[in-house]
Formats: sequence, structure tokens, C-alpha cells
Amino acid sequence: PSTTTGLHTHLPFPFGAAVSVNLMKNNPKYRAVVTNEMNSITAENAMKVSALHPSKDVFTWADADYLVDFAQQHGKRVHGHTLIWHQSLPPWIENFSGTKEEFELIFKNHIQTIVTHFKGKVVSWDVVNEAFENDSPALRNSVWRRILGDDYIARAFQYAHEADPEALLFYNDYGHEWGPTKRTAIINLVTSLKQRGIPIHGIGMQMHTRYNQSDANLAAAINTAAATGLLVHISELDISMNPEKVQGIALTPALAQLQANRYKFIVQTYNAIPKAQQFGITTWNVGDADSWVPGFNGAPDWPLPFDRDYLPKPAYQGIIDGV
Ligand code: XIL
Repeated sequence: PSTTTGLHTHLPFPFGAAVSVNLMKNNPKYRAVVTNEMNSITAENAMKVSALHPSKDVFTWADADYLVDFAQQHGKRVHGHTLIWHQSLPPWIENFSGTKEEFELIFKNHIQTIVTHFKGKVVSWDVVNEAFENDSPALRNSVWRRILGDDYIARAFQYAHEADPEALLFYNDYGHEWGPTKRTAIINLVTSLKQRGIPIHGIGMQMHTRYNQSDANLAAAINTAAATGLLVHISELDISMNPEKVQGIALTPALAQLQANRYKFIVQTYNAIPKAQQFGITTWNVGDADSWVPGFNGAPDWPLPFDRDYLPKPAYQGIIDGV
């Protein structure tokens, strides 16, 4: 397949990637892939708390606005990531030492200033990201929860909805495909928010997965999320080909084909949930050269449908073959 046919044109739901402002500005091959292959984008880092809100009375919009302007000029959807997370926090939030009442106002103002700034341009938000512990049903003791209590999650959705009643609001997390423990806790949370009338519209499942994850676990993740009736976003898809973190190995043609089959299975399973719930699939990063996985794992890896030169890999065709 050529990089100019447009992967998204082959798919019945939006297809996008997490993008870096720096690479959009400085790498023409990267920018061409985003322009030609995707019809949705998520900012990899430019809409995180530390990027947008570095100190109490300062909001810095330039990088995020650059991506939003690009998207508007090229007719791409923008998904906002992320209003409330325990990572990427500036010190003034991480080390907050005032009262609960003050922090509630900061929390509300943070959410509403950002949602208002992008109103009508960013159609959807990861309102809360990764509220649960790693592979556990327990809520994380983030600064948000420690000061504001467990129901900060519900209030984040209410504040976002007040600022932009049209925006689609998602709860985003990882580990749905690892097994039932964390998955059930996530599903119970979003179901209870929905039952309470809290404005939640979708589930984002990150799906940072690996080549040897089972069909059963991947299907359980997608189908359990769909059973809630909410929109389902596979929000940060990548498939590690070296989860064992072996040093000095290379991607063989056989491994690349195995990866294509895994992408195909995920797309096939996703394509089988009700159309009205298919918000789309977003890969985390664009090509293997800019993937966050090698740095995170400290080992070589090739998790994405485009290679180090931004040419399509077998995974590209695997995605097309999934529909
Ligand atoms: C990652 C980015 O890719 C990195 O550049 C950054 O240093 C750390 O965050 N889950 C998420 C994403 O929700 O925001 C993370 O992105 C990857 C894991």
C-alpha cells in the first residue's frame, strides 16, 4: 500500500494517532503520514496538565493550538488528552498545600478553562486518565483523590460538561485486556457514573499491548466495554514485539507478519461492536521511530503500523484486512 491512499479511507470508523508538535513541525515524512493516513489526532503531550497549566495563573496554549489549527485546516477530528491525570503534573499542583476548598476551585478552573478554550474545536476529552492503580481495583492516591476524595472523578465530568455541553466525555485507562480484576473495577466505575446521571459518554481503553496477548483477553476488553452501551475508543493502541525486553534483537519478517495478524484481530473485533459505539482507533505515536515504547521498556521495539522511515509495515495491511 502507498502512504498516500489514506489508511482512514479504508475504515468505517475514525483512525488516528497521538502526535508530537515537534515532529509535526520538523519531520516532513511524519507530517505527511499524519496528513494522509489519519482523520483523527490526539496530542501526545501538548494537552497534558504540565503543558497547558504550568503555574496557577498561567495557561500556555501555543503547542496545543498548533495541533488544533493543523486539524482544522486538514479536516481532522481532535480528541483531547487529558484533563485530569496523576502524571505530567506541574510542581504547584503535585505539591499543593492549601485547603480542600482552594484545591476544588483550582480543579474546576483547570478543567473549565481548558475545555472552554477548545470548545467547538476539540470534540471529545479524556476527562480522567488512569484513576486506578496498576492491575488493581483500587483507586490511585493521586493528589486529586488525596485532597478531593473519591468523587473527584464524577465532579471532573460535571465540570467539563458545564463548560462544553456538546463535548463527548471519556474515562480513559489501561489494562482492560490484562484480565478481569482492573477491567471489572473500570466497568463498575463508568456504569455507576452513568446510572447516577453523571455526563459520561465513552470509555477509552489504551491497549498498550503485546504480540502474545490472547485473543480471549483482547476480545473481553473490547466486548465488555461495548456492553456498557457507551462509546468505545481504542485510545492508545500499540503492539510491543519485544515485551521480554531482549537487547540487540531485530524485527524479522515473520514477527512483522505476526504483528499484522494481531492488528487485524483487534480491528476485526472492534468492527463487530455496534457501529454507533465505534468512536475510533488511535495508535500511540505514528511510526516505530517515535514510539514511546522503546524508551519506556528500555529495549528495542516496533509497535506501530509505520516503520522507522514512516513507510507502511505489514501491520498497515493487517488493519485494512480487519474490516
Ligand atoms: C506518554 C508519552 O508518549 C511520553 O512522551 C511522555 O513522556 C509520557 O506519556 N498512557 C497515557 C499517555 O495516557 O499519556 C502516555 O504518554 C503513555 C501511557
